[in-house]
Amino acid sequence: MSYGLLAGKKGIIFGALDEQSIAWKVAEKAAAEGAQIVLSNAPVAMRFGKIQELGEKLNAPVIAADATSMDDLKQLLEQSMTHFGGPIDFILHSIGMSLNVRKNKAYTELNHEWMLKTFDISAISFHKLMQTAYHLDAVKDWGSIVALTYIAAQRVFPDYNEMAESKALLESFARSFGYHYGVKKKVRVNTISQSPTWTTAGSGVKGFKTFFDYADTMSPLGNATADECADYCVFMFSDLSRKITMQNLYHDGGYSSMGINPSVFNEE
Ligand SMILES: NC(=O)c1ccc[n+]([C@@H]2O[C@H](COP(=O)([O-])OP(=O)(O)OC[C@H]3O[C@@H](n4cnc5c(N)ncnc54)[C@H](O)[C@@H]3O)[C@@H](O)[C@H]2O)c1
Repeated sequence: MSYGLLAGKKGIIFGALDEQSIAWKVAEKAAAEGAQIVLSNAPVAMRFGKIQELGEKLNAPVIAADATSMDDLKQLLEQSMTHFGGPIDFILHSIGMSLNVRKNKAYTELNHEWMLKTFDISAISFHKLMQTAYHLDAVKDWGSIVALTYIAAQRVFPDYNEMAESKALLESFARSFGYHYGVKKKVRVNTISQSPTWTTAGSGVKGFKTFFDYADTMSPLGNATADECADYCVFMFSDLSRKITMQNLYHDGGYSSMGINPSVFNEE
């Protein structure tokens, strides 16, 4: 069902790789709610992913940008403003990648060069994006910027590895930049802390099925799906969430508030 929540709004959505991607679902829902979209992803994703397919379906331009490159981000924002005929209303940062996870390095054996690259892609890119937008004045007053995160920023999930620190950094950038962007332009900045979700990035984490099943059993409402995350993002881009900023918002079926759930031990 569509409510027209984003009628007339314009946004950039990073990170749609394939139909499983959370960003893919967000792009579809945002368009269904009346938004005009520009899609972006890393140049390599243009070759291996299906983003062009999504662009055709939603009639959305697809602009390649490595989110770690200030030049690429500047070009993307300038081209998007040209396309839309002015500044934008919302941005989704749905980007994550860990070299140490990809190469199966244990947390106690990390390659620190790779760790820095992981931080750059998964967290510092968020600061780079906001700093670029801030200086280009690319986001309208009361605009909304959202990044996706995971509860490993607060609690220990050993196999999430260095992505835990990436997410802690990402959430901190949302708070700190949220202050500056709020003062300057009333722009809102938040992170959504999503349940484990079956995607390329998610399923790359060792033991992901255990992560997923445990969270699903612990959460009174069960895990939040990618579609449900997209609904939450639409709300955060809409005018209904105008005074929410600098928050880390759990979207996890109640998981983050649980201590013990007898269901885990089949003791319902
Ligand atoms: N899947 C989960 O369980 C889960 C849970 C909580 C949060 N998240 C977060 O959601 C976000 C989206 O991940 P997803 O699960 O949809 O997986 P995904 O693999 O579909 O998306 C990750 C995206 O990051 C992009 N990316 C990687 N390096 C990039 C770069 N240098 N520049 C630009 N883009 C780059 C990839 O191309 C891909 O599109 C990530 O931040 C992830 O950490 C995922």
